[in-house]
Amino acid sequence: MPIPDEFIQELKARTDIVDVISGYVQLKRSGRSMMGLCPFHNERSPSFSVSRENGFFYCFGCGAGGDAITFIRRIENLDYVEAIKLLAQRAGLTVPEQGRDDGTGRLKTRLYEANREAARFYHKQLYSPSGKQALSYLRGRGLTEKTIIHFGLGYSPSDRFELVNHLRSKGFSNAEIIQANLANESRKGNPFDRFSDRVMFPIIDLRGNVIAFGGRIMSDIKPKYLNTSDTLVFNKSRNLFAMQFAKNKADGRLILVEGYMDVIALHQAGFENAVATLGTALTQEQAMLIKRYCDEVIICYDADEAGQKATARAISILRPTGLRIKIVTVPSGKDPDEFIKSYGEQGSARFAMLLDRSGNDIEYRLKKLRSRYNIDITDQKVGFMTQAAFLISEIDNPVEQDIYITRLSSELGIEKSAFRQLVDRSNRKKAREHIKFEQRQAQEKMSAGKDRLNVQKHYNLRAANAEEAILALMVLNPDTASYVASTLKSSSFVTDPNRRIFEVLISKLENSSEISLADLSGQLTQDEMSSLARMLASRPRENDPRAAADEYISVLLEEGEKMTPEQMAAADNDTIMEQLRKMKEKKQ
Ligand code: UTP
Ligand code: MN
Repeated sequence: MPIPDEFIQELKARTDIVDVISGYVQLKRSGRSMMGLCPFHNERSPSFSVSRENGFFYCFGCGAGGDAITFIRRIENLDYVEAIKLLAQRAGLTVPEQGRDDGTGRLKTRLYEANREAARFYHKQLYSPSGKQALSYLRGRGLTEKTIIHFGLGYSPSDRFELVNHLRSKGFSNAEIIQANLANESRKGNPFDRFSDRVMFPIIDLRGNVIAFGGRIMSDIKPKYLNTSDTLVFNKSRNLFAMQFAKNKADGRLILVEGYMDVIALHQAGFENAVATLGTALTQEQAMLIKRYCDEVIICYDADEAGQKATARAISILRPTGLRIKIVTVPSGKDPDEFIKSYGEQGSARFAMLLDRSGNDIEYRLKKLRSRYNIDITDQKVGFMTQAAFLISEIDNPVEQDIYITRLSSELGIEKSAFRQLVDRSNRKKAREHIKFEQRQAQEKMSAGKDRLNVQKHYNLRAANAEEAILALMVLNPDTASYVASTLKSSSFVTDPNRRIFEVLISKLENSSEISLADLSGQLTQDEMSSLARMLASRPRENDPRAAADEYISVLLEEGEKMTPEQMAAADNDTIMEQLRKMKEKKQ
């Protein structure tokens, strides 16, 4: 059942798109709209625009666009009904019951419920006779009762059917249990527990839903950790372990560590802004998520070689977001958990000292770079300086650049001005490359965004442009909308994607005198919403919308009479002659 239109109207009236988006993006006024850095792709100069008046956003860089509902869907990774719920909550409204049960929405709810029930079950097992070993394992690793409860840790029994049987007794179907990846399917099609005889770490999303698990074995058997595979409610590259706690404690900075145990040990020691990835290397999506909650990230990966490689990779993913990056190196090859534990009572104070001493990533990379050169040899010294200048030119802030230039030139015994010249040369080169890169990126995204939806546009440019102008006029001018609706038939549309949008607009007009984007996100796909937002964002304001509509309609009708190349190939002689005659008539 769809959500009733009246409710959407009410929600729309109480929702200010600029308010909603300001919660995620810093917006500044620019002419009729507000501009900011797009949260859906990396950029340094703003191409993301929001129109309060017309209730839509559009990014000229990557082509993302739509209304407040589309925005929330994309940024929170929600389906339509969930996004409505979130906006409703914000506006102090309650979504009518019948609106809740659309297909995937219901399945998702079931998977959340199954996961929550599983978490409860695992947690309870920890305090049962079979969970004794697991409980003493966790205590042996220094976790307090409070921490175990705070993180909802648990134990999955070794018998492969206990969770499945429990969930079945609670009314979950085999299909739901398998879809939540809580069970695997036997060759005969029967489910059996995915996790057995492991310590369980529930993974929880930003809204408090249990979405997945990590399970650690208590012996040396591999794999050490087993994680939930991606499901309808879990995407491992979009979530971070403990982010639901850390986001409220970030205060401008997050600590990024490698392991679940590191996060837990840090939280217990009072560093509740620690998070970890979910068994994979850091992704761009996770970097953008971090960016939403802080402006500084401290990478504290393992001191081993793998950890250092992962650090370099994480820096390269985090740097383009504009986050300040610091690196903490834990001494003597320990991970943060082992480090804290090794100092007992003092663990927390010791880790705080490490944080204090953490260098930024430039410092870290300079140190790495230096270790590769023998600067007593002139050639190598020059090589080091050139590379170092290149690194320093990555710093945006000129004052910060100067600090490194001063320090390095004094350390190496060279003229500061000579070194500065090297950095400046590198600065200019970087700037040129960066501009080129952004232009290329924008172009690629633009053309990809357009073509993805309307491949016919390329061959019917004039018609498609007229169609887009008509659609935009209809959304922006209520009077014109009803006029167009009574004048133009959908069969006159030349390209299919625009015709589909037109038909949705027309059907909206049957019950209401005007159209707004917020009414459409239920019927249009996200790509269609983006496409429509692009049409709105790129249209100048019309002084006489009615006349403009007439003009575009006549262009469209004219174009509609032309034959497509395929029709031309299939047509008989008479039809072609008739077509030629029409074309000649128009020219006179
Ligand atoms: P680590 O091997 O560093 O484990 O893996 P850890 O967190 O320090 O765990 P303990 O202290 O040995 O118990 C770091 C992270 O990599 C992922 C997990 O997310 C783990 O927390 N991982 C590791 C896996 O997903 N699978 C594995 O088999 C190993
Ligand atoms: Mn560890």
